[in-house]
Amino acid sequence: MELPKMTRRDFNKSTTLGVVSLALSAGPAVRNVLGANDRMGVGLIGAGNQGRFDLSSMLRTGQVDAVAVADVYDLCVALTLDAPGMSSKTKGYKDFRRLLEHKDIDAVIVATPEHWHGIPMILACQAGKDVYVEKPASHTIYEGRKMVEATRQYQRVVQCGTQQRSGEHFQKVAKMIRGGKIGTVTFVEAWLTGGFTREQRKLAPPADSDPPPGFDWDFWLGPAPFHPYNRSRRGFTGFWETGGGEMTNWGPHLIDVIHWAMGVDAPVTVAASGSRYASQGLYETPDTIEVVYEYPPCAVSDHGFAARFSQHLGRGPDEHAYGTQFYGTDGTLFVNREGYTLWPAQATQDVWETFGPTQVMKGDGAAQHQPHVVNFLDCMKSRQKPNSDMETTHRSTSACILANISLRLGRKLHWDSNQEQISGDAEANKMLNEERRKPWNAI
Ligand SMILES: NC(=O)c1ccc[n+]([C@@H]2O[C@H](COP(=O)([O-])OP(=O)(O)OC[C@H]3O[C@@H](n4cnc5c(N)ncnc54)[C@H](O)[C@@H]3O)[C@@H](O)[C@H]2O)c1
Repeated sequence: MELPKMTRRDFNKSTTLGVVSLALSAGPAVRNVLGANDRMGVGLIGAGNQGRFDLSSMLRTGQVDAVAVADVYDLCVALTLDAPGMSSKTKGYKDFRRLLEHKDIDAVIVATPEHWHGIPMILACQAGKDVYVEKPASHTIYEGRKMVEATRQYQRVVQCGTQQRSGEHFQKVAKMIRGGKIGTVTFVEAWLTGGFTREQRKLAPPADSDPPPGFDWDFWLGPAPFHPYNRSRRGFTGFWETGGGEMTNWGPHLIDVIHWAMGVDAPVTVAASGSRYASQGLYETPDTIEVVYEYPPCAVSDHGFAARFSQHLGRGPDEHAYGTQFYGTDGTLFVNREGYTLWPAQATQDVWETFGPTQVMKGDGAAQHQPHVVNFLDCMKSRQKPNSDMETTHRSTSACILANISLRLGRKLHWDSNQEQISGDAEANKMLNEERRKPWNAI
């Protein structure tokens, strides 16, 4: 993805990486407790597509001031400073640690690529900031646990970007499932179709080149191994060192809905298969993955249940191109961002003529992202746990990371979620963490 050319606003280019250290140069920059009518200062780390969207949603509430923006690419900072609703006082930085020194920043948004969530999030907690961190929670399960620990140790409000939890229709569906509306749920499937078009899948990787002017490529790679600049690598989720494919891109949204509605936080087994069947060359992560999970007994199913995550090319029928579907003894319930449909058991048993499709219950989709941001800001004042707290999103992300480990090793994993260890598999356990390049190796 190429971004447009630099715009008119110039910003402080003197903020190149100084002495690199995981420690901040200043101590915690914490403000007193927020009052109900206090304005909140926000900093954005990672000013790409989603970061700009998160920030604009916060500004739309009218409760927030954008104090500073940090991105390793000058152009992204410049574009953000030029965006509607930004103040001329907003500062721009290349190094997010300078942003964290601001005493007038109460919260930061972390919307960097997948491999760059944990470090800024933990440093923000240490600096006394609340955090809105995008999904997936982390790049490894170890790192996700460290993020949970930082949230607790520094008593921070942390909202993760699994915004379905703030959507009214998702809340209604979760309540119906947990209330037994479709009986005992024995199987849940989540799927995502789409991806490469015929033309895109033929693309070869571009040649290595110099990064664009003002882009600190080494800082973009950060804790990940060094590679010469290659434009395709900015599609971070396509490479194992910086992402995890659709499994960790869309998976955390879809698996999170399963965990929430079923009242579980971790599978007991995970078995994945898949490959790059059509789209060779450009990326490393699969274009097709099928994952089967087994979950333990829960409130909706005394004997546990099975779940499947499926991602593949092509396109499903419009309304069902992606989503989550729960199969219960008394009915079947489909939900995605656009709405939900509940087919009572009779309607799924070929007796529609008797009972009629009128018994099918449908509901429209409700907004998710804006209420999610509002929930975060409300919790910053009340100090309550937000809808997508760090622990639950860490758990949903863990289920996705485990699927990728299973895929890469080609075997079924048995997950001990209390110890966060894969039972009897030393090689797999090594993949719960990763080497980080200095100086980002201190977590
Ligand atoms: N919640 C959602 O529905 C949703 C939707 C899209 C993306 N996302 C998530 O948001 C995150 C960002 O995705 P995106 O699509 O905006 O990617 P993007 O590539 O458009 O933006 C990432 C930005 O982070 C910058 N960056 C990289 N390293 C940095 C560092 N060390 N410090 C500061 N900036 C740095 C990059 O230069 C880039 O501008 C990902 O985790 C993605 O999964 C969430």
